[in-house]
Amino acid sequence: MSASRPAAPQVRGAQRAVLRIPPAVEALLIQCLACLLLFGGLHLLRLLLPSARLPLFAAACVQGMLAAWISSRRRQAAWWPWIHLVFLPLLLASLELHLPPALALAGFALLVSLYWSTFRTQVPLYLSGAAARKAVAAALPQGSLRFIDIGSGLGGMVLDLAARRPESRFEGIELAPLPWLASRLRQAMTGRGHFLRGDYHRLDLAQYDVVFAYLSPAAMPRLWEKAAAEMRAGSLLLSHEFTIPGVAPSFAEPTHPDGKMLYGWKLPGAGTTAAAVAVKKPRK
Ligand SMILES: C[S@@+](CC[C@H](N)C(=O)[O-])C[C@H]1O[C@@H](n2cnc3c(N)ncnc32)[C@H](O)[C@@H]1O
Repeated sequence: MSASRPAAPQVRGAQRAVLRIPPAVEALLIQCLACLLLFGGLHLLRLLLPSARLPLFAAACVQGMLAAWISSRRRQAAWWPWIHLVFLPLLLASLELHLPPALALAGFALLVSLYWSTFRTQVPLYLSGAAARKAVAAALPQGSLRFIDIGSGLGGMVLDLAARRPESRFEGIELAPLPWLASRLRQAMTGRGHFLRGDYHRLDLAQYDVVFAYLSPAAMPRLWEKAAAEMRAGSLLLSHEFTIPGVAPSFAEPTHPDGKMLYGWKLPGAGTTAAAVAVKKPRK
């Protein structure tokens, strides 16, 4: 970030996020709580019906259901209750199958290189798809420009736009090693796009005319602080699906029949953005 730029305005959502327990830690606590509840329930069952026995796998299923229920009560993201539901039963099943430890290690390494620091960023890998690529292409200003996809995943957005707009420069930055490697291979095969491996928070966004993000609700307040502090007047911040709390977009276009949208914020200039953009209403 350039030192001469004024500090970005504070966003209330960002302050709230700091006070929250990270979801991965919350998930661990939920698993522990579900185990405690299960042990308590089993103890009670033994007092009431001394001859009753619950098979181990059935007990694991009950623990999964308890954890999934707590997770949904805690309003964790939609995928967490499902993970809680199957975690212990799958762990038991894999132990029963006597899978070779190397297989478990390989699975773990694959997941780590795919998802890397998702527990910290709260941004897993999922792809925006063809409809979003078409909407982004339509939203790009005319003429030669420099574009970056911050969190470029497998590189699909960058490669698609580079094919549509050969006069412009399309870049992607990706934190997770495996998706980044896939995008570098695709770059080598097609001769299109440019891909960096790293954290977009370390980039100076002032270099770009258009910044595209498909991240998660948790990442948006911090992204806005950075964009507001760094992006040049007239440049464009695009976000697929996720809005910025408290900052109305300059425009919003549907990308999917299921209601997903592409949001755009036209930056009036570093340091002055929050108030100026917040009063604008989305264009229909
Ligand atoms: C939802 S995927 C979007 C992939 C791609 N942009 C698309 O539209 O299909 C988000 C990606 O952002 C990456 N990511 C998350 N935080 C990041 C960060 N701070 N810097 C760079 N990449 C990040 C994740 O690893 C993930 O691959």
